[in-house]
Amino acid sequence: MRHTFGGIWTRNKLEILDDYLRFYVKALQNQPFVLHYVDAFAGMGTHRPKENEGQQAILPMEDLVGSVRVALDVEPGFHHYHFNDLSEDHVRELERIKQEYPGKKIHVTQEDANIFVPHFCEAMSQNDRAVLLVDPYNTEFDWITLKHIAYTGKIDLWLLFPISVVLRMTPKDGVQIRDEWATKLERLLGTSEWKEELYKQKEKPMYLDMFPSKQGALEERVNVSALTDWVRARLSQEFCYVGTPFLLRNNGKPLFLFFLAITNPKHAARELADKMHAHLQRTRGC
Ligand SMILES: C[S@@+](CC[C@H](N)C(=O)[O-])C[C@H]1O[C@@H](n2cnc3c(N)ncnc32)[C@H](O)[C@@H]1O
Repeated sequence: MRHTFGGIWTRNKLEILDDYLRFYVKALQNQPFVLHYVDAFAGMGTHRPKENEGQQAILPMEDLVGSVRVALDVEPGFHHYHFNDLSEDHVRELERIKQEYPGKKIHVTQEDANIFVPHFCEAMSQNDRAVLLVDPYNTEFDWITLKHIAYTGKIDLWLLFPISVVLRMTPKDGVQIRDEWATKLERLLGTSEWKEELYKQKEKPMYLDMFPSKQGALEERVNVSALTDWVRARLSQEFCYVGTPFLLRNNGKPLFLFFLAITNPKHAARELADKMHAHLQRTRGC
């Protein structure tokens, strides 16, 4: 069975994750913590980039290592690995991967990530610490689930936010936003006020005052940069630290924002995350 999705941006994302996991286990290996790697949308260990998404030519059309194998190959390693996926086929493959690593404590589950993540968060003990990857295809992850993560104070979150989908569901002129999109946006963004936030009064040329009949839409959606700032600001209301996101693109078009968000309120934890984030921006910034 083959898992076909993603492209050049997927590789950028996994390189960032790989660097962060290596940094994390090194930084915490001599602390009295039980370290968990948690993959809420785990996939099946490998994937093949889609051929029909206008891929940049440098990407080989072969199976690439996915987040699960990236995490398993980090040394000295985590004490526990939690791989969750809704797909039965993917879970079967995850169970097979588990057999390949008999020395590692791997837990495989098949749940909706919006149920799995709160369960994991509630079960965390005092000495548990975790890196959690939220890597959906697009809008499957609800904002409300982020609140469970933020509440723990023990999780470093890497969140893939589907900015291209938000842009598609919010046409520039704000008209004809389908009802089902509005519902999805509310779940994804965690507020019913997204429309007021994302649409601003258009600057209109003076002559239109003289020809009111020629006026089109009076509002327009904010641009990518303002949308990014708004999502980051909203995350910052929930988390103690939120790094500037990595903008993952395909052929120049924005696809995803990849955010690091820290829940540990201690100054030292935020400082460490910020240092690593700055390093990643320098070396992996895309
Ligand atoms: C983008 S892929 C994950 C890729 C993986 N992290 C990797 O690097 O190989 C998204 C995965 O989420 C799974 N999925 C979709 N909806 C889900 C949900 N509501 N809860 C959990 N998993 C879901 C899909 O089966 C798919 O394997």
